[in-house]
Amino acid sequence: MSEVIAIEGGNKLNGTVVISGAKNATVALIPAIVLADSPVTVYGVPNISDVDALGVLLKELNCKVEKNEDILVVDPTNLENIPLVGEAVDKLRASYYFMGALLGKCKKVTMKMPGGCFLGPRPIDLHIKGFEALGAKVDYSNDGTYTIEAKRLVGNKIYLDFASVGATINILLAAVKAEGKTTIENAAKEPEIIDVVNLLTKMGAKIRGAGTDTITIEGVEKLNGCNHEIIPDRIEAGTFLIIAAAAGEKVIVQNIIPQHLEALISKLKEMGIQMDVVGDSIVVYGREGDLKPVNIKTQIYPGFATDLQQPLTTLLTQASGDSHVKETIYIERFKHCPQLNKMGAHIDLKEAESIIHGATQLHGTRVEATDLRCGAALVVAGLIAQGRTEITNVYHIDRGYENIDHKLISLGAVITRRQVED
Ligand code: EPU
Repeated sequence: MSEVIAIEGGNKLNGTVVISGAKNATVALIPAIVLADSPVTVYGVPNISDVDALGVLLKELNCKVEKNEDILVVDPTNLENIPLVGEAVDKLRASYYFMGALLGKCKKVTMKMPGGCFLGPRPIDLHIKGFEALGAKVDYSNDGTYTIEAKRLVGNKIYLDFASVGATINILLAAVKAEGKTTIENAAKEPEIIDVVNLLTKMGAKIRGAGTDTITIEGVEKLNGCNHEIIPDRIEAGTFLIIAAAAGEKVIVQNIIPQHLEALISKLKEMGIQMDVVGDSIVVYGREGDLKPVNIKTQIYPGFATDLQQPLTTLLTQASGDSHVKETIYIERFKHCPQLNKMGAHIDLKEAESIIHGATQLHGTRVEATDLRCGAALVVAGLIAQGRTEITNVYHIDRGYENIDHKLISLGAVITRRQVED
């Protein structure tokens, strides 16, 4: 059995939506907890299936896990460093943060290659090179399992060929308890990295430079439990800004850090969307008149986020003229485009680029969420399409959006969910 959501298009949205804690911070913070020697409490944990999968992995490692609404308490005191080779590893890419965390804590980790959305090639060579630079030996067996082990982890200077989010976090996790000083050069600067560093610092780690391209870590012997509140999800927030721009009359998107969304906000304004930033909220006013086409090039933070190019593409189908979306992070992240074309969009694909010819009236039909943000793009499309849109493979959407149906229904959308035979 799997789930389908059906959206009746054309209903104008009004009201306030509150953004949840950041998925891409949470999925790194949870594995980071195993580095502590006493319980860690995290507030603002989104209720998404990626968090459930990480909870399963924590339990496999004999951590005590209690979740109450958005509060997660993890006690890693009796950690057992068993190989992580079960199903939960396949459910999300970020299970690989247990590599850095267990290596850092126990000097050894065995786990299989993680799963996650298909966005084209997603190698982890930079993570592995980082572990090796700290003194670890990495074995990869034919069954797809990594064993990473070190007699001692010793700080080193590590230059990343690409400012990878995952490699930066994984190396941080492996280095916080290493002997001496580690420097990560060309580190990623995404807000989620700062959040992870804030947690590790509260645990007793000594880290400087998070949010810049050089991060230095002085290894410590012991890390303790602490309390931590997760930052709001800038990608969920951006998705709702796009939804509000596409289908809203007056929508307030609350619990936002507006600085995290500057690239999107400036593109929406360039398209002609009216918005006001008020403290931690953004008020989006419904579109009047034609939207202008814009060109997007995805880049590392603070550039335009690759995760938002997919939902924004749907809005660009409503702009009068041609818009170009160039991907520089995941060159094959265009699986949403054929789905949108099924709904009446006119999108051509070139290498690492989509060209959206607008404006086109979208119409409801059955489409497939091929990955998480493709799912978000299709939700935006369903809300503005004529008639009924059915989206299959909803589990992709549930990996990263807490209660998306309910949040939209509270704004006036008409959405139902049902189980279907596979
Ligand atoms: N890369 C390598 N080698 C590596 C690591 C990365 O070549 O060892 C390449 C990747 O193939 C890709 C680029 O570097 O072309 C960027 O990858 P990065 O490591 O920065 O991405 P990630 O850590 O795998 C995170 C988010 C993604 C988000 C990207 C870019 C998490 C769990 N995932 O992925 O989020 O798109 O950063 O910002 O944090 C999503 O939320 O839908 C999502 C896919």
